[in-house]
Amino acid sequence: EYPDLAPVPPMGWNDWSYYTCGVTEQDVLANAAALVRTGLAAKGYRTVTTDDCWMAPQRDAHGDLTADPAKFPHGMAWLGRQLHGMGLRFGIYEDAGTKTCEGFPGSMDHYAQDAALFARWGVDYVKLDGCNVPTAAGRTKEQTYRSVYQRMSDALMATGRPMVFSVSAPAYFQYDGDAVWHQVIGWSGQVGNLWREGRDIALGSFPADKKWASITYNYAYNAALAGLQRPGRWNDPDFLLAGDSGLTTDEMNSQMCLWAVMAAPLISSTDLTALSPAALGVLGNRAVIAVDQDPLGVQGRVVDQGQDYAVLVKPLVHGARAVALFNPGSTPREITTTVTKAGLPAGSYEVRDLLTGHRSRTSGVISATVAPHATALLRVGG
Ligand code: GLA
Repeated sequence: EYPDLAPVPPMGWNDWSYYTCGVTEQDVLANAAALVRTGLAAKGYRTVTTDDCWMAPQRDAHGDLTADPAKFPHGMAWLGRQLHGMGLRFGIYEDAGTKTCEGFPGSMDHYAQDAALFARWGVDYVKLDGCNVPTAAGRTKEQTYRSVYQRMSDALMATGRPMVFSVSAPAYFQYDGDAVWHQVIGWSGQVGNLWREGRDIALGSFPADKKWASITYNYAYNAALAGLQRPGRWNDPDFLLAGDSGLTTDEMNSQMCLWAVMAAPLISSTDLTALSPAALGVLGNRAVIAVDQDPLGVQGRVVDQGQDYAVLVKPLVHGARAVALFNPGSTPREITTTVTKAGLPAGSYEVRDLLTGHRSRTSGVISATVAPHATALLRVGG
């Protein structure tokens, strides 16, 4: 099994959703500087990942990947040194297939060479996508993906450098039926530390309603996978969009709280250099981050839901519970659950609202009035 390099869900920033293929080293460094300046880095957002399109269209004479000379003129080793100098960690994107999703050189037939190169460059986190993986002769698609991801996993381990491994394979089986993608998630958690599933979250350029639809879709998809998570091996429902134009503060908060209660990786993908105070407040809420990063490492589960509400419960250390009350509907709604449904033995408990800081006590009912598209996140007991 791949080493346990992510005992709590990874946190950081990735350029993809906001910058897509146009990203440059200045964009990456400006956002890295913003992570530090805003205090988000000190709160845990430390891994800065350069997604697709950092590469030149061809490998060099030694068969090594090289940076796009126009967009990343100082090269990737230099970029890694800059990030490390800022106290951050360096993440990089590659693809298990012949080409990346945007058509740049993939790692197929170069796993050991690319893993060694990443280690030399000081990479700390590898996201390996799954576009353009041709099914091998005599093998099924599932067997093919399993073997290519296993090969990169072995290659990364062989370098001796600890690099968190983000596996994209499950996203490539989302339309192939439950049985097969559950199987793929099973081995993803053996060859790597986290795995992408479901659809890509909306791009920063999408209209606000599409962003919200994408957040609620990925939430529901990911919530159904709670049984496939274990501590240190994380379902990844994709990026946080807080900061993007169009989303309301309640919507940004909902994504943050739902991701936290699901112990999802907290990977922002927006322009952090122009972050509004509201978005910074959402991303930087220490109490919500602490729910996500709780050392027990358990993904919260839906304990009750209906058309216009969902209740999720996540066990925390010292017997506490995080309870999320989500209102996906378009009118305010009182959402109610109980101490028993939250999995707590009968007794009197403190309830702390992690967004307002308000404290109360209960020995039965837990409830809140929740605005449309908002989520209340409560810490009960402990
Ligand atoms: C896929 C991934 C995205 C992003 C793009 C880059 O769509 O799911 O997260 O990495 O590729 O091309």
